[in-house]
Amino acid sequence: MKKLCLLGLVATLASHPVWAETKPAALKDKDAFVSDLLKQMTLDEKIGQLRLISIGPEMPRELIRKEIAAGRIGGTFNSITRPENRPMQDAAMRSRLKIPMFFAYDVIHGHRTIFPISLALASSWDMDAIGRSGRIAAQEAAADSLDITFAPMVDISRDPRWGRTSEGFGEDTYLVSRIAEVMVKAFQGASPANADSLMASVKHFALYGAVEGGRDYNVVDMSPVKMYQDYLPPYHAAIKAGSGGVMVALNSINGVPATANTWLMNDLLRRDWGFKGLTVSDHGAIFELIKHGVAKDGREAAKLAIKAGIDMSMNDSLYGKELPGLLKSGEIEQSDIDNAVREVLGAKYDMGLFKDPYLRIGKAEDDPADPYADSRLHRAEARDIARRSLVLLKNQNETLPLKKSATIALVGPLAKAPIDMMGSWAAAGRPAQSVTLLDGMNAVIGEKGQVIYARGANITSDKAVLDYLNFLNFDAPEVVDDPRPAQVLIDEAVKAAKNADVIVAAVGESRGMSHESSSRTDLNIPQSQRDLIKALKATGKPLVLVLMNGRPLSILEENQQADAILETWFAGTEGGNAIADVLFGDYNPSGKLPITFPRSVGQIPTYYNHLTIGRPFTPGKPGNYTSQYFDDTTGPLFPFGYGLSYTHFSLSDMALSSTTLNKTGKLDASVTVKNTGKVDGETVVQLYIQDVAGSMIRPIKELKNFQKIMLKAGEERTLHFTITEDDLKFYNAQLKFAAEPGEFNVQIGLDSQDVQQQTFELL
Ligand code: BGC
Repeated sequence: MKKLCLLGLVATLASHPVWAETKPAALKDKDAFVSDLLKQMTLDEKIGQLRLISIGPEMPRELIRKEIAAGRIGGTFNSITRPENRPMQDAAMRSRLKIPMFFAYDVIHGHRTIFPISLALASSWDMDAIGRSGRIAAQEAAADSLDITFAPMVDISRDPRWGRTSEGFGEDTYLVSRIAEVMVKAFQGASPANADSLMASVKHFALYGAVEGGRDYNVVDMSPVKMYQDYLPPYHAAIKAGSGGVMVALNSINGVPATANTWLMNDLLRRDWGFKGLTVSDHGAIFELIKHGVAKDGREAAKLAIKAGIDMSMNDSLYGKELPGLLKSGEIEQSDIDNAVREVLGAKYDMGLFKDPYLRIGKAEDDPADPYADSRLHRAEARDIARRSLVLLKNQNETLPLKKSATIALVGPLAKAPIDMMGSWAAAGRPAQSVTLLDGMNAVIGEKGQVIYARGANITSDKAVLDYLNFLNFDAPEVVDDPRPAQVLIDEAVKAAKNADVIVAAVGESRGMSHESSSRTDLNIPQSQRDLIKALKATGKPLVLVLMNGRPLSILEENQQADAILETWFAGTEGGNAIADVLFGDYNPSGKLPITFPRSVGQIPTYYNHLTIGRPFTPGKPGNYTSQYFDDTTGPLFPFGYGLSYTHFSLSDMALSSTTLNKTGKLDASVTVKNTGKVDGETVVQLYIQDVAGSMIRPIKELKNFQKIMLKAGEERTLHFTITEDDLKFYNAQLKFAAEPGEFNVQIGLDSQDVQQQTFELL
C-alpha cells in the first residue's frame, strides 16, 4: 500500500498514470489501485468516465476521438470491430491518465453466430446448450474487441403483449433464475478479465417485464411480496453468479423511476445484495426523468440519478453538463461522483483493461481480413442448440416427421425470410448468412423429394402496421411486401398445395413485431396469414404449421386447422437447418414452453403459478360464482412446460422417501420415466411444489426443479429429486424469507398440468 502511494507520487510528477508505469505490482490490489488513480483525476476526467456514448451518426468519430483524448468519455457502445475500436483506444492512450476505454454491445443471443432468441433458448430447458450459446457469443464478441455486453436480460414476462417477451427467458422465476446464472457464467467465463470473456450486465433492473398492459416503457406497480417472490430473484441470481454490471430499467416502480430509485440501487442492490459493480442507466434514461415527471429539468435529473446510484449515463449529456454545477452548489457531494467513478474504474480493472488496454483489440496485423467471414461462425453449434429449442405443439396422426421422398408445398411469408430467422437482437449477425426454412428443407430433401415454394401471403396487409415495422429500429425497411393482390398470392400457394403430399406453412410474426417498442393489442397471427391458412386447410392436404414468433400467440383456430404445429420462435443463423432436422425426423423435438400460450389475448395473464383464490374455477362445474370468463373455456391453450416428442414418455411410481421433512433434513422424490415409443428421445421431467396452507395465499404450484433426460426407445429410468427446506421458503407479509411448517404437495410431470402428486409435511 505504502509502496503504491510512493509510486503514485513519482508517477504523478512524471505525469504518467501510476498503472501504466508500475504494473503489475500496482495492479495487485484493486481497491488501492483504483483509489490511487482516482486521486490523480481532475473533476473533468472523473465526469468523463461516467459517460457511455453510442457510436452513431450524431457523434462523428473524429469528435469522439478528440473527446476521448481529452478524457471526457469512459466507454462506447455499438462499434463492433477491432479496426473501429483501436483508434478510440489509441486516443485514450493519448489522454493525460491513459485510462482505457471499454467497448460495449447488446450481445443478447449471439454475436456473429446468431443463436435462437432468448425465449427459444429457454424452451430448450437445456442448461448446457444455453451456456454454450453464451460462451460462444462471448468468444466471438471478445474477438471483435468488445469488453462488456448488456445482457442477460432476465425480466420475468407474464404479459405476451409486451414485445420484449422475446428477449427474456419466459414467465417462471425458477427457470429464469437458473438461466440467469448460466448466462452470466457463460459470458464471463473463468473471469471477465480473460481475453475471451465479456463482462455481463444483467438487465433491466428491475421488473421491466411487468409494465402495465404490456405497454413498453410503462409503469410498474407491484406489491413488495410479489416483487421479492417472483420478479427480483433472476436479477439476484445473476448478481450472485458474479455479473459485473447492472443495467437499470426504464420503467418506474411503485411511483419512482428505477433511474432515480435510491431504494432499488442503494438499499436493495448494494446494501442487501452486496453488489460491488457498475450500474449503467438505460439509453437516455436520465433525461427521461423529466418526462417521468420527477425532475423539473436536466439539472435535477442528473442529481436524482447520481444520488440514487447510477454510475454511468448511457447516451445523454446530462452528467457532463450538470454535475460540475451541482457539486459547486453543494447539491451533490464529491463522494457521489467519486463513488460512481470508482465503479467505472473497478469494472475496467475487472475487465482486465488496466493490465492490457488492447486485451481484446489485439494487434492490427492479426485483425480478421473480413470480420463477416463465414469461417468465423459457429454453425454446427448453432444448429445443435437451435434444434433443442423447438417445441412440438401438436402432431395429429403422426403427420410429422415428414418423408424425405415427399412432395412438399412450402408456403408462407416466413419460409424465405433470412432477417426474421435471426430474431430481433441479432447483434453483428448478417441476414445473408442465415439459413432460411426453404434452404434448410431443400438441403435435407436433396434429390429424393421436392419442395414447391410459394409465398402465399405477406406478413400483414395492414399498411399502418407495415409502415410501423419498417420504421422501427432498423436501418432499412426489412418487412418485404409482395405487391401482388392477396388473392393472387393465396391462389399460387393453393396450387402448390394441390400438387403436394403435405403442406408446410411458415407463419407468424416478423422479427420486428416482437422487439423493443413492439407491444401488441392482440396475439393473433396477422389476418393476411390467417386467410392463407384457411385456404390451405380447404385443400384437404395435411397441414403443418411452422410458427415463427417472439411471444406466445393465440392460435386457437389454427390449432384446429393444423395437423401439426412446430413452434420455432426465431431460431438464428442455422434456423432453417435446425427446423428441417426436426421436420424430417433427423432430430426428435424436446423443447418445452417456458411461457403459457393463452387461448385469447383477453385471458392474460395466464401464467401457470398464479395464487390460490377463494372461488377457483372448478372444471365440469360451470357454476356462476367461480373465477372464470363465461365466454371462453377456462385454462390455457398450451400450458407452461408443455411440448411433445416423436416418441411417448410415461411416468409411474412417483414416491417420496418420507411423509415428513425436518427443517434440516432432505426428502427424496422419485419417479420412473419410460420411453414407450419407437424412437429415442429427450424430455424434461418437472417438479412442482405447492404449499397447501400458509400464513399468506401461495401459488397453486411452483417449479422447483427439473431434469432433461435422454431415453432410448423402450428404456426406463428412475429419477431422483432432493427436496429441502430451502425449496419451501417464501417471502411472507413481513418480507421474511422462511418456510412454514405444514403440508406440501409435490407434483412431478412432463408439463405443469399433467402431473402426479404426493404429499408430505414440514415439521
Ligand atoms: C434498451 C436496452 C439496450 C440499450 C442499448 C435500450 O433502448 O432498452 O436493452 O441495452 O438500448 O442498445
